[in-house]
Amino acid sequence: MFTQVELLPADPILGLIEAFNQDTNPSKIDLGVGVYRDELGNTPILKSVREAEALLLTRETTKKYIGSHGDPLFSQQMLPLVFGENSNVLAEKRATLTQAPGGTGALRLAADFIKRNSPEKTVWISNPTWPNHFAIFDAVGIQHKTYAYVDSDTNRLDFPALLADLKQIPQGDVVLLHACCHNPTGFDLSKEQWQEVLAVLKEGKLLPLIDFAYQGFGEGLDEDAAAVRLLAEELPEVMITSSCSKNFGLYRERIGAFIAVAKDTTDMEKVRSQMASVARANYSNPPAHGSAIVATILASQELNTLWRSEVDEMRNRINTLRQQFVVALTPYGLAEKFACVAEQRGMFSYSGLKPNEVAQLQKDFGIYMVSTGRMNIAGYNEQNLPYLCEAIASVCGK
Ligand code: LMR
Repeated sequence: MFTQVELLPADPILGLIEAFNQDTNPSKIDLGVGVYRDELGNTPILKSVREAEALLLTRETTKKYIGSHGDPLFSQQMLPLVFGENSNVLAEKRATLTQAPGGTGALRLAADFIKRNSPEKTVWISNPTWPNHFAIFDAVGIQHKTYAYVDSDTNRLDFPALLADLKQIPQGDVVLLHACCHNPTGFDLSKEQWQEVLAVLKEGKLLPLIDFAYQGFGEGLDEDAAAVRLLAEELPEVMITSSCSKNFGLYRERIGAFIAVAKDTTDMEKVRSQMASVARANYSNPPAHGSAIVATILASQELNTLWRSEVDEMRNRINTLRQQFVVALTPYGLAEKFACVAEQRGMFSYSGLKPNEVAQLQKDFGIYMVSTGRMNIAGYNEQNLPYLCEAIASVCGK
């Protein structure tokens, strides 16, 4: 069998990790995979995480299974983080959470759930999007199509085109939306634009699946949840996939959640029963370490405060780097071309660099980013910014 299988190309994002590691250029810069880096280029363990882990080491008494829905304490702490402390959805017991192995695992649960219960539905995905969205829905055999998001000429959010496309979606289909920090573009919708999207979702009886992987990296933990909270309050059914990879820096612990909001508790219980079954067939029980860390941090006033300040620090640093990038490109006459970088939010910027320019950056300068021109803003720092800008100017013919 093995001789007949096809040799596949590397993943467009994860494949860059290996390529970067093999590059011997001493000036190389990794702007590929979405991990936060500090001013020294490290991805440190958050202090709140270290303290929680120290506590867990003394408190943990068992390694037994935690059940298909995961740790109840994690669920208890995550739901208010996503919906807010005074959420009607929570008061009305309309939401259910199933712990998942990362945001990707949560998306896979969502995909399996859709496939089992409404295989005829099409999932509508923004163009562009995180490439793994397509892979996940392909893996379960769900049809997907795209809706407009960015104007490729101006490299700006094209909201009229987005809205027009959403209005064409057949009734009842699923629409995958990015709650904040749109991956890969960094272009988010304003409050007013979310209201317009909500009206279209209501009108078309569309079912939103909200990818919420970057809570805290856009404007703030509560601010970034505004769209999730709006849609959950206003619509009878919503699915959300949340990730703790970025905001807790727990990338390798694989901790995330699938959340469903139903019209009432009876429907919520039905969905919950389905999620246990979907999880069981995939991996049985989720891993426990990440959820224990998150639950410990969120339940402790002291650790919670520390963690919130660490999220603020990461977000503020990224936003400062965005400004510095545009300033550093000014002497090359490129400030206007890259002004969007300062306007975008989250970890990524859709820089507008073309695939050939990206390839040249990699080959000639050891600068790695996704071929679509997506840069991880947290990947550079004050020290290597001049080198990065010189390289960008060179590939742009400046
Ligand atoms: C990214 O987009 O770089 C991250 O979400 C990591 C991944 O799994 O692709």
